Amino acid sequence: MNTTNRRRFLNCLLLGAAVAVAGCSGGEKKAPTTAPVKTEPGASAVPAGKVWNIGFSQCNLGEPWRVQMNADIKAAADKHADKVKVIFQDAQNDTPTQQSQIRQFIQQGINLIIMSPKEDGPFVGVIGEAVKKGIPVIVLDRDQKGANYTCFIGGNNKQIGVEAGKYVVKLLGGKGSVIELKGLMTSTPAQDRHNGFLEGIKGSNIKIIFDADCKWLEPNARAEMTSAMSRFDKIDAVYGHNDPSAHGAWTAAKQEGKGREKTIKFIGIDGLPKEGRRYVKDGILAATFTYPTCGPEAIETAIKILSGEKVEKRIILPTKAITGWTTYAGAGYVK
Ligand code: FRU
Repeated sequence: MNTTNRRRFLNCLLLGAAVAVAGCSGGEKKAPTTAPVKTEPGASAVPAGKVWNIGFSQCNLGEPWRVQMNADIKAAADKHADKVKVIFQDAQNDTPTQQSQIRQFIQQGINLIIMSPKEDGPFVGVIGEAVKKGIPVIVLDRDQKGANYTCFIGGNNKQIGVEAGKYVVKLLGGKGSVIELKGLMTSTPAQDRHNGFLEGIKGSNIKIIFDADCKWLEPNARAEMTSAMSRFDKIDAVYGHNDPSAHGAWTAAKQEGKGREKTIKFIGIDGLPKEGRRYVKDGILAATFTYPTCGPEAIETAIKILSGEKVEKRIILPTKAITGWTTYAGAGYVK
């Protein structure tokens, strides 16, 4: 067995064990705590004193924003511990692992699945399988276009991109050279953040002189920024699709040793208190845009679905600009 297969096998074992434990904890001894899954989505009824099992597949836990998403889901679920129990899985940035996690959830008869997919496309099939079996699926943050999910909850990435573009136009006085460090371009947030940015800078003299798919990862952004700096003397701003990318670019500029980290403006997205917001406070980033983790909304929506309530098919959450520039009124300013 190679390393990947071994890891998948171990993940399956772990998931099986997690569901078994969930099925044995609390409530009366004889009946399983897993509520029976009905074939009508949204019509599941949990017997008194029983708890619904929710399987959550996170695409990876390598970035602070995803750690925060898990923490938010856990905190929200803990508030409703009498109703729901969440079984967490980490797909470690591997699409086949994440697909098999969803299939495992289906086999284990979980009551509802929440997933934050790695990328757009490869999960349409498994989502369809779950929903066909009467297991509602909530997709978070990265969309699955054409999938028959029960509900999608995410931030407004197009709007974030537009706001970031408009902000850069203002910041640079309408003209300048920008480096764009993109997120994984097979995922919808990266596509929307890119298209939105182009819309935001439209009509200005802002030019994107270098761009790269950094797959959301700080080390990739650092390497790409180093290569951009070796080619271009004049760089006015860096638009990172997330705060780790913007920070990676700033680090590369600092390491270059020419003081460019002080003249280039760095813009990121996510706006976590201990990450992006901290960077803005410390003067590393000019701005970041908040990106909701959707954790609380996911649990709230899951409970509604499991209680038989109707929910919106798509729930899109707003963003706020965080900048030292208090007069910027674009997406709404927060300190
Ligand atoms: C974390 C992350 C965030 C980003 C989001 C987009 O994996 O890269 O930084 O905002 O995913 O899906």
